[in-house]
Amino acid sequence: MIAIACVDAKNGIGKDGKLLISIPDDMKFFRETTKDSIVIMGRKTLFSFKDKMPLKNRINIVFTTNDELKKDYENVGNIYFIKEKSEIKDIVDRFPDKKIFVIGGASIYEKLIDLCDTCLITKVDKTFDADTYFPDLEKNGFKIEKESELHDYEGINYKFITYKKI
Ligand SMILES: NC(=O)c1ccc[n+]([C@@H]2O[C@H](COP(=O)([O-])OP(=O)(O)OC[C@H]3O[C@@H](n4cnc5c(N)ncnc54)[C@H](OP(=O)(O)O)[C@@H]3O)[C@@H](O)[C@H]2O)c1
Repeated sequence: MIAIACVDAKNGIGKDGKLLISIPDDMKFFRETTKDSIVIMGRKTLFSFKDKMPLKNRINIVFTTNDELKKDYENVGNIYFIKEKSEIKDIVDRFPDKKIFVIGGASIYEKLIDLCDTCLITKVDKTFDADTYFPDLEKNGFKIEKESELHDYEGINYKFITYKKI
């Protein structure tokens, strides 16, 4: 399983249900990397998408405690609602060739980080006012495998870092 996130200088990932920053190249990286894969997320992250709709060309697995929610998505394909980590296996086993990405938010990264062997982190060299954070990578046994050169978006530096569990 692979976690993918864009974090600020202090590991912040969101504020008031929204992203801290939207970098076009990072969005493109996310789209291209997760295309045709399975993406696992929390209900708040689902609700942060346009019209609260699941991501196209991906199998969307959404954690929620709300049993009623699946009724609202009856006519929407490619989305599964789950309550427990143990329910993931049944779904992903139906798609054996697909990669599995954990796409947030904070509660789901925290819940699934122990199942991830890789984290694809876009690290932004700026601290934003955040209320949600990515788990501490070092404490969770991750080390940097490779990192890109510095990129610039409107004067803000960022780089793409691949972490591997050791
Ligand atoms: N920077 C990034 O790369 C990135 C990526 C994704 C998200 N984000 C940001 O992260 C923030 C959202 O993170 P968040 O932690 O507040 O919300 P979240 O993880 O997206 O969703 C939380 C919801 O997931 C469900 N959930 C969580 N744990 C559960 C469990 N054990 N069993 C069943 N359901 C469970 C609950 O849904 P119910 O309330 O329906 O029960 C809970 O309210 C937003 O600001 C978003 O923009 C950032």
